[in-house]
Amino acid sequence: MQSQIKTAIITGASKGIGRALALLLAKNNFQLSIVARSQGELKDLAAEITEIGHRPLYFVGDVSDEAFVQQTIDKTAHTFQKIDFLINNAGTGTFGPTESFSGQSWDTIFDTNVKGTFLFSKAVLPFMKDAKKGHIISVASDVAKRVFDGGALYCSSKYAQHAFTEALRKEVRKDGIKVSTVYSGLVDTMFHPEPQGSESHKEWLSCEDMADSIFYIMNQPAHVVIDELMIHPLSQEY
Ligand SMILES: NC(=O)c1ccc[n+]([C@@H]2O[C@H](COP(=O)([O-])OP(=O)(O)OC[C@H]3O[C@@H](n4cnc5c(N)ncnc54)[C@H](OP(=O)(O)O)[C@@H]3O)[C@@H](O)[C@H]2O)c1
Repeated sequence: MQSQIKTAIITGASKGIGRALALLLAKNNFQLSIVARSQGELKDLAAEITEIGHRPLYFVGDVSDEAFVQQTIDKTAHTFQKIDFLINNAGTGTFGPTESFSGQSWDTIFDTNVKGTFLFSKAVLPFMKDAKKGHIISVASDVAKRVFDGGALYCSSKYAQHAFTEALRKEVRKDGIKVSTVYSGLVDTMFHPEPQGSESHKEWLSCEDMADSIFYIMNQPAHVVIDELMIHPLSQEY
């Protein structure tokens, strides 16, 4: 018989929104797999989570590495015997005039924001289809639906991530799998040029605001799926 304890994989868990969500889920009795490239930060988070509750699995690697993604999913499924939630949160941004970007800038941003979401989603599907349930939640951005000057690469990657998750939602609904996408405005994280906690961020969303919103999506009854959630700080003009 499967355990009542819920399991979740969170990409981009070493800092920011992913880290806050991992701590919130740990406090709510989840078994977790946490993923990022920064070994030290993931190890510290794993220790913090273990003190709260269940020892997590942690995976150090790049979300665009197909072999790494498959190993992460296989080890998680083998250890926990099920995967209830996948949170595609890892992401990166680069901003400026289009001619300042290289082909490598394009590859890095699309590999992380789009290919990573595709590879993780593809790899969990067989397990979720077998279980006839599961929930894939991707953290996109409000700029998956609007654009701004200087955001040609970032916005186009988030539009692509948005289109992928929309199509996936239609594809896997019949398999009992929920697909949700979160579109957020400004969040106080290391994502921005100024450090987290800067005075200029003080009215922005916090990582905990984002974690609470994602947890709300995760906590709906079996027959309810929140397809999309758009969230902004009240102070943000857009
Ligand atoms: N902050 C905002 O204002 C804002 C607004 C809208 C949407 N978002 C989205 O929210 C998500 C989380 O961002 P955040 O604000 O929490 O930023 P953050 O603090 O910079 O965290 C990004 C996370 O993604 C991981 N990551 C980046 N590239 C990766 C890769 N190639 N492979 C594996 N992990 C990778 C980072 O870990 P490592 O560096 O250790 O790999 C880190 O854990 C992103 O998808 C971002 O686009 C953010």
